[in-house]
Amino acid sequence: MISLVFNSPRGTSDIHGEDIKYRDFIINTVRELFGIFNFEEIITPVFEHTGVFTRSIGESTDIVQREMYTFPDRKGRSLTLRPEGTASVVRAAVEKKMLSSSGSLPLKLFYIGNMFRYERPQKGRMREFWQIGAEALGSSHPLLDAEIIWLLNEIFLRLGFNNLELNINSMGCRKCRESFLKRFKEYMDPSVNKLCKDCKRRFTENPLRIFDCKVKECRKIVSQGPKISDFLCRECKDHFEKVKTILSELSIKYTVSGELVRGFDYYTGTIFEINSRDLESAQNALGGGGRYDRLLAEFGGPDMPAIGFAMGLDRTVMLMKELKIGYRLKKDVIRAYVISITDQSNPYCLNILKDLRDAGIICSIDYGKGNIGTEIKKAGERDFDLAVIIGDEEIKSDSVTIKDLKEFKQYMINRAELVEKIMDLTGVK
Ligand code: HAM
Repeated sequence: MISLVFNSPRGTSDIHGEDIKYRDFIINTVRELFGIFNFEEIITPVFEHTGVFTRSIGESTDIVQREMYTFPDRKGRSLTLRPEGTASVVRAAVEKKMLSSSGSLPLKLFYIGNMFRYERPQKGRMREFWQIGAEALGSSHPLLDAEIIWLLNEIFLRLGFNNLELNINSMGCRKCRESFLKRFKEYMDPSVNKLCKDCKRRFTENPLRIFDCKVKECRKIVSQGPKISDFLCRECKDHFEKVKTILSELSIKYTVSGELVRGFDYYTGTIFEINSRDLESAQNALGGGGRYDRLLAEFGGPDMPAIGFAMGLDRTVMLMKELKIGYRLKKDVIRAYVISITDQSNPYCLNILKDLRDAGIICSIDYGKGNIGTEIKKAGERDFDLAVIIGDEEIKSDSVTIKDLKEFKQYMINRAELVEKIMDLTGVK
């Protein structure tokens, strides 16, 4: 008996098998869309100086207070495994002076990477998880807000989702927030004792973060209180109205949600979240983002506005599998399983493998002793479309037997016609 020496750390996963295919399908789809929307890829380090995150996300947020993997390096410098990608992209853009030529604005970057948050693991919530994100730096035009939301929405539509809920709101600028916070504190003051322990602390440290709370009683109190969207200054209101008009022009369905306040301090103006109505529980956000018009200046860069989003790759895979949508939508992928009743290294079998692979057909061969029934069952379970069977009779007559594993039909054909017949059966040209 094998005794297990190590388990993977809590909240992490080994990604393999079918999940890799879903990820590839998602990544290929988003790469194509990022290209169409003119975004370029950036890869930043997995760890940064801790200040990159404390300064941007905010000292009193849950992420910074409780969820960061922070450690000293051998020289005692404080480093942190990235809990998100925005701060790193902003740090890189400022450090590498990517915003110095006005011709390059807005600078549109995307990233695909693993993030780390010390959260309580549950379905759809991990300690190491993957995000696909996009950041557009250097324009305050409302069309850019709408384009970013359009891109996020389009990704999920192209992946095959149709039960989506897109919520948008505006957090306003510093001015609007000040007047809102004054009113919000007055409203909350008599109810502070009814709040949970965390929200009592939030009330003094950073009252806006009370909106992140999932506790029922806190939610109820918040839902009856003032909304930030009612405190927008003229400029912020105009901007948000324009974003909404453009989204409507683009026929993108959205809901304005006054209670949407995202969990990072860097947000200003437009914010949004895309949820799936098919995901139960609190973990139903597939992606979200917003404007962060002050962050570049806070990082010592030019005083330029910016906006972006990130989506959760693991959560998207999980839901696609549950809803049975996904990589099989791509019609040009054929998977064939070659079953050889004679020695697999017989030149006849090798030539067939070569013919299939030359034609771009994904194939594997069995390495067994050839119990045909077991091998066919295995091919079906492993989601192959066809089995290509080679026995003594086939070799003698220069032919092959094809078993269509989806339609359960069988054909014996001339070897020269193999690729064409497969294309015919699977509807791929
Ligand atoms: P976020 O809402 O924290 O935003 O994360 C974006 C997405 O990452 C979530 O909607 C969710 O799908 C996924 N996610 C977050 N935490 C976890 C977790 N523990 N396990 C699995 N999936 C998770 C951001 O990170 C911002 N940086 C987005 C942004 C970009 N804003 C402006 N630019």
